[in-house]
Amino acid sequence: MKGELAEMAYESAQPVLEEEATQKTSSPVIQVENLHKTYDLGEVQVHALRGVTLAIYPGEFVAIMGASGSGKSTFMNLIGCLDRPTKGRYLLEGQDVSKHSKQELARIRNRSIGFVFQGFNLLSRTSALENVELPMIYSGVSHVDRVRRSNEALKAVGLEGREGHHPSQLSGGQQQRVAIARALVNNPSIVVADEPTGNLDSRTSVEIMEIFQRLNNERGITILLVTHEHDIAQYAKRVVVFRDGKVRRDSLVENRLEAAKVITALPAIEQDEDEEA
Ligand SMILES: Nc1ncnc2c1ncn2[C@@H]1O[C@H](COP(=O)(O)OP(=O)(O)OP(=O)(O)O)[C@@H](O)[C@H]1O
Ligand SMILES: [Mg+2]
Repeated sequence: MKGELAEMAYESAQPVLEEEATQKTSSPVIQVENLHKTYDLGEVQVHALRGVTLAIYPGEFVAIMGASGSGKSTFMNLIGCLDRPTKGRYLLEGQDVSKHSKQELARIRNRSIGFVFQGFNLLSRTSALENVELPMIYSGVSHVDRVRRSNEALKAVGLEGREGHHPSQLSGGQQQRVAIARALVNNPSIVVADEPTGNLDSRTSVEIMEIFQRLNNERGITILLVTHEHDIAQYAKRVVVFRDGKVRRDSLVENRLEAAKVITALPAIEQDEDEEA
């Protein structure tokens, strides 16, 4: 109940996205129309998405919010071509992918979309470099190019010098950086992140948001990010709130936070806070 009240208070403080604000000159990178997803569990059917219509334009940074069970991950899985809708249309870069076969979806996914998950999903007995190489093995990149591109991606997320470390030898934030590097190596136009800061402390979360903002600003990568935290959503440009499998609210972020600036204002190390307390 408390969460719901906070959500309502937050929503009423946000400006509703005006029609004109969505009238972009370019065409949407993601366009879904009346998207439905029903999970058939034999005796029961779960209507996870009940008609979602949404357009996302190149270079947008969208935070997806909403209560647990409201359909956020289901939506992300459809957007990321990990699953197919029961009903409705999904145009990815203008191409209708809603009726694509699993193989076709896998090809598109590997080429256009990078994934980041809450639990990092790294291979534990494999170095950071090898984890980052994986998506390129599937897309047939030569060994020399894989190593070069993996090194570049790890450098871009601030992990130079950690290439040989296994996940257990890295902090949570560093593991998430490896996962982001892995999401970047095939040069995706979209990065989809499902609660990427859910397992991280607040400082590390801001550091991860700094990487997302940099990728969005400098490379124009479109970012969709699920979060439960309002302060994390403040780093996005737009917030879409789901409720019961539908879009309940769609608004622009006012007073957007800049992660790079927020970091400089944070205490240098967590320990300092403890000592002061
Ligand atoms: N594979 C599945 N099979 C059956 N039902 C599912 C499946 N995945 C999700 N659901 C159901 O669909 C609904 C939406 O789930 P979803 O995981 O999309 O919610 P969510 O908004 O991501 O929640 P959370 O914030 O807890 O991650 C829920 O009722 C859930 O139980
Ligand atoms: Mg979820």
